Amino acid sequence: MAVKDEIHTLADQRRNTERLMADDAGVSRAAELLSHGGLVSFPTETVYGLGADATDATAVAQIFAAKERPSFNPLIVHVPDVAAAQKLGRFDDQALLLARTFWPGPFTLVVPALPDSPVAALTSAGLDSIALRVPSHPVARRILAMSGKPIAAPSANRSGRISPTTAAHVLADLDGRLDAVLDGGATNVGVESTIVACHGEDIRLLRPGGIPREAVEALLGHKLISVADTGDAAPRAPGMLASHYAPAAGVRLDAVDVRPGEAWLGFGGLQPGGAEPVMSRNLSAEADLVAAAAALFSALHALDASGARSIAVAPIPKTGLGEAINDRLSRAAAPRPGKA
Ligand code: TXA
Ligand code: MG
Repeated sequence: MAVKDEIHTLADQRRNTERLMADDAGVSRAAELLSHGGLVSFPTETVYGLGADATDATAVAQIFAAKERPSFNPLIVHVPDVAAAQKLGRFDDQALLLARTFWPGPFTLVVPALPDSPVAALTSAGLDSIALRVPSHPVARRILAMSGKPIAAPSANRSGRISPTTAAHVLADLDGRLDAVLDGGATNVGVESTIVACHGEDIRLLRPGGIPREAVEALLGHKLISVADTGDAAPRAPGMLASHYAPAAGVRLDAVDVRPGEAWLGFGGLQPGGAEPVMSRNLSAEADLVAAAAALFSALHALDASGARSIAVAPIPKTGLGEAINDRLSRAAAPRPGKA
């Protein structure tokens, strides 16, 4: 494909990865890189995270490029305290009790996102909920305080590899793909945070982790439903969120023309034939897959809101971040039960 030569993804662009010590100079350099859209790995008490400014869609897209994730999983957003979390998500009494008890610590809460949240749509993969965590690791806490931004951070490993518990693990997997690693020694929990979703009375364990289930159950005074225990919980289970991404409009992939009543989602320079689109967006006129990933969920929301019966999507290369973009679009295009 001719367009392939013009595509630049982060994976192709080797970066100079700075090795930073977790002293004042290192932490301020890390915060500076983060506030300019950089990717910085830092220690948390669970595992090393691969951090970026959660409000910067392009920076978040580069997390997915660096990890070579074949799909866009929603990411955990790290904040310094409960008050900062309440600026991004809606906490009812139960969620607040959990937050005040287990934060700071290896515990993540999924709550409804506030409508005016500054967090980029890509960070939560277009969901209307947000995963929030207040880490206890002193280095993570200093970065959060100094950057003043919510930081999206999955574990700092390539997709399918083992989560890193030292800076050396991070470098072995990701050297040249991120701007800096802040070396704070080995992490002590070593497994990821426990994830609990709070949607009113419906409180579920999405992922077992550093805080034992029993501790959560003792606090709430009842057993937690595990997503694995239930037949109907799939949409909230990590990695199984297909139905949440689906727009009301249909999605038609690899389109080169527009049919009557359709919206157009373009990529690169392709000019579609056919009808005049109800609304049109281009994910990246320059055919840049990182930019396209950053724009994807907000474009889908906007085109869906236009009332178009269907969204015609230009062909998008399947390489680099294109794999995740195509994965997400094909899930949106798949027939789904209960929807016309
Ligand atoms: O310990 C940890 O949690 C580490 C450190 C770096 O903080 N982070 C981590 O992030 O494990 P990650 O991206 O590897 O895992 C995030 C998990 C995914 O399984 C994702 O599906 C789930 O959180 N998740 C995030 N947002 C969600 C949401 N809105 N609804 C449901 N699940 C969500
Ligand atoms: Mg992970």
